[in-house]
Amino acid sequence: MEFFHTHVAPDALAAVRETLESTRLSEGVRVKAFEAALTERLGLVHPAAVNSGTTALHLALVVAGVGPGDEVILPAQTFIATGLAILMCGAKPVFADIDPTTGNLSPAGFAAAITPRSKAVLPVHWAGLPCDMDEIGAIAAVHGIAVCEDAAHAIGAFYRGKPVGAISRFTAFSFQAIKHLTTGDGGAVCCTDATDASEVFRRRWFGIDRASSPMSELGEREYNLHDVGYKYHLNDYCAALGLANLADLQDRLARRRAIAATFDAALADVPGVRLHARPHDRLSSWWLYGMRVERRLDFVRALKARGVPTSVCHLRIDTNSVFGGLSDLPHTAEFDATQINLPVHEALTADDIALIIAAVRAGW
Ligand SMILES: Cc1ncc(COP(=O)(O)O)c(C=O)c1O
Repeated sequence: MEFFHTHVAPDALAAVRETLESTRLSEGVRVKAFEAALTERLGLVHPAAVNSGTTALHLALVVAGVGPGDEVILPAQTFIATGLAILMCGAKPVFADIDPTTGNLSPAGFAAAITPRSKAVLPVHWAGLPCDMDEIGAIAAVHGIAVCEDAAHAIGAFYRGKPVGAISRFTAFSFQAIKHLTTGDGGAVCCTDATDASEVFRRRWFGIDRASSPMSELGEREYNLHDVGYKYHLNDYCAALGLANLADLQDRLARRRAIAATFDAALADVPGVRLHARPHDRLSSWWLYGMRVERRLDFVRALKARGVPTSVCHLRIDTNSVFGGLSDLPHTAEFDATQINLPVHEALTADDIALIIAAVRAGW
């Protein structure tokens, strides 16, 4: 049994082959079609396809105007990429505490971390469950802080009836190999504001605005760059894979939700297990099925011996010296020391699901 599953749709092989045979490999018609499909099928607003979730975060922060001297607030309970994107802007990451029942940045933790230098906040939808976006958005608005959701775990998630990718000024997705929707590597930046979106599109390709930079007779575009751009666009053979994988994404998300509901019903009463909270106003994309357990290492070893892989997935990141020292975050400390995840992907069989449940219920 795998902990993560990389989904490659059967149709993807022909689609990628056709793209390779066309020899039109870089950003072109398939990237455009992929972006249109992200909007049509998932409700994402102005998605710009890029080559990773990390570049999506960086580009969003750049367009938000984050630079040296600014602070950006984030939870420590995330992957290192969230913090690195801030350092890439020359800004200072400021770690804020989480809600220990979900692993998500808490509005109170966010509010406590605000200073006059706060420029942006990166709420991370841990495991695919959306953060308290109304509360976070309201606090950010009062202080003039840009909200950039790190939705690397959360493609297809909903918050109070809205798809993630249509809520905040910026949202960054990852389409890396073990995500629900993969392009091999890839990502997307969504913007609710059309001006931000055109800046994202311009700066993902060197900062050159293709629409208003005609080709000269000498065979080079005419442009005069006034700021730094990046080589962050997705390419067409990755987009072909993404398009093929998008076709059955809703079915695969539904399968994950059904597996999670089965686990909830079967595991809620197990001594030593605390399932994460399940707020009723939002729909997780279930990238992870998480819980907090007593004696975590014993739990991991017992499940491994019974044939069930588990993972913490990401440990708190402020332990890395690049961030300059551990922050005092009591809820993060407790969550980080006890949280663990079970396999929840769509390739699990009924036997796998029964084995996982029996392995947890057998105790450790
Ligand atoms: C929370 C979070 N943010 C950002 C990223 C970075 O995404 P990518 O690997 O596509 O650069 C990841 C990747 O796992 C992630 O988990």
